[in-house]
Amino acid sequence: MGKIFVTRQIPDEGLKKLKAAGHSLAVYGGDRAIPRKELLAGVKGVDALLPLLTDKIDAEVMNAGGKRLKIIANYAVGFDNVDLAAAKQRGIPVTNTPAPEVSETVAEHAFALMISLAHRIPESDRFARAGKYKGWGPQMLLGVDLYGKTLGIVGLGRIGRAVCERAVKGFRMKVVYSDPRKDKEFEKEFGARYLPLEKLLQEADFVSLHVPLLPSTRHMISTAEFALMKKTSYLVNTSRGPVIDEKALERALRTKRIAGAGLDVFECEPLIDCDPSDTLELRKMENVVLTPHTASATIEARQAMSRLAADNVIAVLKGKPPLTPAK
Ligand code: GLV
Ligand code: GLV
Repeated sequence: MGKIFVTRQIPDEGLKKLKAAGHSLAVYGGDRAIPRKELLAGVKGVDALLPLLTDKIDAEVMNAGGKRLKIIANYAVGFDNVDLAAAKQRGIPVTNTPAPEVSETVAEHAFALMISLAHRIPESDRFARAGKYKGWGPQMLLGVDLYGKTLGIVGLGRIGRAVCERAVKGFRMKVVYSDPRKDKEFEKEFGARYLPLEKLLQEADFVSLHVPLLPSTRHMISTAEFALMKKTSYLVNTSRGPVIDEKALERALRTKRIAGAGLDVFECEPLIDCDPSDTLELRKMENVVLTPHTASATIEARQAMSRLAADNVIAVLKGKPPLTPAK
């Protein structure tokens, strides 16, 4: 039976499945991302590696794993941390965890950020806690509605679709989307309209990003794109930090080029600001809502990811094709 190295303690359901299938597990016990040295040592001679999005899995790690390494089962939907070309060269399948539960969870989180911005929830919470609520006022902390507004979905994968469904059925928003592929069925089902990114940015009141991090999506939203957006618009990012040019975002927020931003991911993660000494810090802006890469952080989603990572390992170690190959 196979030896599996897991680079951090993860929710247990997948680990139980792996044990029940007769595999032996070594789990790194630290409470931070595994140090490189420990990763290179831990992967040695194993049949399967189960890493996190915080682990850079490159040729060096694969070589350290050696000839027995048969699968890299990334515990994440994204897989920009894994060198797919190096894995392909070595014939090692790479898998991710796009479980249906995760799409629901991340879509909820995208909405949590949108609602937080539109209804000024964190700001209102700070206000109330600070003892500033001295009496009801008709113009106090006025926000805006999602209802009736146009949501621009950038990237129509599983998560983008789950966001669209909520937008249309739950919030009665209009949806426009941009993606390399048009989907007529989807357009019919949700009354959604395809737009090239530039047009989408001009029309949308809320823009939500759901693209993978690729060379083509790095800094996809930068100065030129902010220049197209409405001054009243909000930008939400639950994908990957470097999709937004953070310097350009800070400038857009400071100059009121856009109304606000909801960010779950950051260009220089785990730093919130790439340059912590910068005076334009995102952390100081009232119209910015920040969550520390927790869009999929529910028990349901993280257990589903655990089970799916395990199922991928079990399949491949049985000589079967992986269930959800990264591609
Ligand atoms: C989280 O960011 C993931 O890719 O699962
Ligand atoms: C607000 O509380 C209202 O009753 O309108």
